[in-house]
Amino acid sequence: MPSRELDVALYGATGYTGRLIAEDLADQEAEFAIAGRSRERLADVASELEADPEIVVASVDDDEELEQMASRADAVASAAGPFNDLGPPVMNAALREGTHFVDTTGEQGYLRWASEQDERAREAGVTVVNATGFDVVPSDLSAYLAAHALDDPTSVDIALATNSRLSDGTQRTMAASTGDWWEFEDGRFQDAVPGRHMRSFSYPDREDPSTGVFIPWGDCATAPRSTGADNVRTFFVLDRDRARKYNLLWPVQWLVTKIPGLDRLLASRAPEGRGGPSEEEREASWFSILAEAETPDGQTARAIVEGSDPYGLTGAATSRMALALARGEGNGPGVLTPTQAFGPERVPKLVPEFIDEARVIEP
Ligand SMILES: NC(=O)c1ccc[n+]([C@@H]2O[C@H](COP(=O)([O-])OP(=O)(O)OC[C@H]3O[C@@H](n4cnc5c(N)ncnc54)[C@H](OP(=O)(O)O)[C@@H]3O)[C@@H](O)[C@H]2O)c1
Repeated sequence: MPSRELDVALYGATGYTGRLIAEDLADQEAEFAIAGRSRERLADVASELEADPEIVVASVDDDEELEQMASRADAVASAAGPFNDLGPPVMNAALREGTHFVDTTGEQGYLRWASEQDERAREAGVTVVNATGFDVVPSDLSAYLAAHALDDPTSVDIALATNSRLSDGTQRTMAASTGDWWEFEDGRFQDAVPGRHMRSFSYPDREDPSTGVFIPWGDCATAPRSTGADNVRTFFVLDRDRARKYNLLWPVQWLVTKIPGLDRLLASRAPEGRGGPSEEEREASWFSILAEAETPDGQTARAIVEGSDPYGLTGAATSRMALALARGEGNGPGVLTPTQAFGPERVPKLVPEFIDEARVIEP
């Protein structure tokens, strides 16, 4: 693809995460545009950047405006969520214009839809890498490393431990996707509910096992592709008493989520702003992700990915993966997971400030 006038068009630049991506694009000295629905809010963002990005106003309801934005860039990056609603129009515009695409989603329903666009992406000659944030860059890497240490693993369990709090936008997105929950079981997507599974994980350098309780994380929709496993589950590490409570309450949770309109009700009660962890909170935040793969005859392999500042990681990974695609450096075309797109050695090198360690744990 010949190079276009912009490296990256960033849609949703006015949000908490969009600003982090824009700051990194400026640090990388990219030629980029910031895009969204409000010229005034985009101008505010531009005034705070150490760069002079072009401002592009495009409504998510206007295909022509989105196509025009996508046609001028080598890659589109989107941080406009919830993605179940706002993701498809932006990704579709990129596919129609032959433009590479990345986004910060973690929503399983949208990720499932996006992976079904693989043939369209191949025909268009573009690489799509969804979920270039904390969900799923380090967990995808961890799952990939564990799975590829074995021949033909059939199951992968991923444990996520972090002390980071959630941005307002992430809380709204999670509320809006209530009930749209999946796990990958026996080679297909099955209805899932938080808390349904509980198990312990042996982290290296920790004396006691850690307790993980099932949460429907993006990897249930992406790791089947990066690992080839027929069973993928994701767990959040909690103290044992809390984990047990969630686990005991899962049938109640399952019944409650069947109430029609609950997703809209919860979304309307989520925080309204565009805030998130402060710089100090981000500096003090860490993550540790353990993946365990298993073959049918009981062989297991574990891998760990550790680092800091999940939201900083999201901003930098999204900016740098978009730029790498713009330079023609992805393993595309097609709809790929982050590790499929860039390989297990390159992913930590793209964001070295945020990933300290990524390795298979020797038995
Ligand atoms: N995968 C991960 O680990 C990860 C990490 C961070 C964030 N995220 C996801 O990324 C998304 C953004 O998070 P955030 O914290 O940055 O949220 P935020 O601060 O609320 O920002 C949301 C962005 O979406 C735009 N937007 C909302 N509704 C729109 C509409 N109808 N048309 C056009 N643009 C619209 C907003 O534009 P306006 O300013 O015009 O409202 C804003 O730019 C969320 O879905 C979140 O879950 C995922």
